[in-house]
Amino acid sequence: MMEAEYQERVNALMHELGIPRQIVTDRGLSLCLETEVLVEAVCKGKEGRLFLLEPEAASAWNMLQRSAKVDGIDLVLVSAFRSVDYQADIIRRKLQQGISLEVILSVSAIPGYSEHHTGRAVDIGTPESLSLDACFEQTSAFEWLSGHASNCGFVMSYPRNNRYGYIYEPWHWCFQGKHSI
Ligand code: DAL
Ligand code: ZN
Repeated sequence: MMEAEYQERVNALMHELGIPRQIVTDRGLSLCLETEVLVEAVCKGKEGRLFLLEPEAASAWNMLQRSAKVDGIDLVLVSAFRSVDYQADIIRRKLQQGISLEVILSVSAIPGYSEHHTGRAVDIGTPESLSLDACFEQTSAFEWLSGHASNCGFVMSYPRNNRYGYIYEPWHWCFQGKHSI
């Protein structure tokens, strides 16, 4: 899909969900294109659920998971690729639950603006805790990621007080390519 066409699709969803375009400008958000190429991501320790990633990110994730394992750390995928329509569903559901847009958009990206659309972002948990909350910061998995994830090209996208207006997400890491590190 061409970028202009994609932007139009995103605009239509934003309109439907009542999300003002101004938020994108105010928060300096960049459009995230939906990847058209996806492969299954290997996820040891969480059988039965299928996670998809863009091929390069999938092999980097595999490498990340394996090198963590060598150091005795188990990394588990909680979320990987998410389509624009799926992201819109998340927001629609939350709105129906009566949660305000402001609160929703501090934890969930606007459809079209989530790194998860690119197939390069992963939400990581541990076998003990798959819930995505700030406590992940206290795990040995997080400590390990902080020291080693960049070796495999992963960067934590949303540190505390990030400029995009999202809460601190120690579990969300995005593959930026091995050569950009
Ligand atoms: N939770 C991040 C911001 C996302 O929805 O992409
Ligand atoms: Zn995420």
